[in-house]
Amino acid sequence: MTLPASKPRILTGDTPTSTGLHLGHYVGSLENRLALQDQYDCYFLIANVHAFTTLADKPADIRANTIGIVKDWLAVGLDPERSTFVLQSEIPAIAELTFLLAMLIPFNKVMRNPTLKTEIELKGLGDTYSFGFPMYAVGQCADILAFRPDLVPVGEDQEAHIEMCRDVALKFNQLYCGVNNRTPADQHAAAGGVFPIPKAKVGRVGRLVGLDGKKMSKSLNNAIYLYDSEKDVQKKLGKVATGRSKSTDPLAEGSPLAQYIRAFLPASRADELLASYSSGQEVLDGHVKAEVAAAINTIIAPMRDRRAKLESEGPGGGESIVQEVIRRGVKRANAIAEETLHLVKKAMGLDFGDRVVAPR
Ligand code: TRP
Repeated sequence: MTLPASKPRILTGDTPTSTGLHLGHYVGSLENRLALQDQYDCYFLIANVHAFTTLADKPADIRANTIGIVKDWLAVGLDPERSTFVLQSEIPAIAELTFLLAMLIPFNKVMRNPTLKTEIELKGLGDTYSFGFPMYAVGQCADILAFRPDLVPVGEDQEAHIEMCRDVALKFNQLYCGVNNRTPADQHAAAGGVFPIPKAKVGRVGRLVGLDGKKMSKSLNNAIYLYDSEKDVQKKLGKVATGRSKSTDPLAEGSPLAQYIRAFLPASRADELLASYSSGQEVLDGHVKAEVAAAINTIIAPMRDRRAKLESEGPGGGESIVQEVIRRGVKRANAIAEETLHLVKKAMGLDFGDRVVAPR
């Protein structure tokens, strides 16, 4: 199916350093992706080359996680009929664009990028990381700009990357496309810039806490997964600390339950419950937890079902379906990314003859 060219575009992606999507991914980004699939021409990128920045010695893991992420996406409801799944390693224009854009981003600015700095700390990389590690921030600009999207739905932690991407796009348009430096960002494409200046779109909950109150994360073992069983969700919720010793105590500040009530129950119901908790009325945690668990189960039930169906599809749990989705996505993605690279090279005076990468 060819999508009408008039739809605005989205690009976003995940790095296959692990698989296993949880509710934090859902409220941070997946929910936006699902909601926007119809209005936008969506490109969802699996950043498998970036995975080598920290897992270069584990290619088999990266490969397995790549397949795993596509399965996760299919289970969640990202739809390869309406959207394009992009395997980064198969899109040569991204690598070429990375090199070209690298010349427009000051080295010190990359090294000061707060997203990179936080990652270095969290992963304990010290000063042992490869040259490719900070380079991936430039690569991420290329991932995005290769598709000339309008919107990039991401979690809060990625905002610094999107800011860098906007800066490099502005600079490119000004340097090579004659766009005036007083032209507002949202007018750049109309003013002749190759790149529209993309905007980040952060999910309605920037940072969902895990069952223990720390950031929800697979490595902290505090997550509710999108394919947990109904019972598991109930059990996990049951264990959440509320800091109360009697049923008229207020809910402890920072209890994950408070955030979950806000995130997963309708706003009016959440207001009502939280007001009862703070007014000293009798509130039974067990009932509230069951209500929240039911709301979460309503969201994830269709995902669980789609995952089970996929896993029952032949050897490797639907691996041939995944391969086919990747194959088709790569073809569609290369059509756009090659077009971008052509425009970029032309703008830079690098247009010498026809480019033949692979016969189509
Ligand atoms: N760095 C992102 C993450 O780890 C994944 C990613 C790679 C991405 N390229 C992207 C996200 C482009 C948005 C746009 O979550």
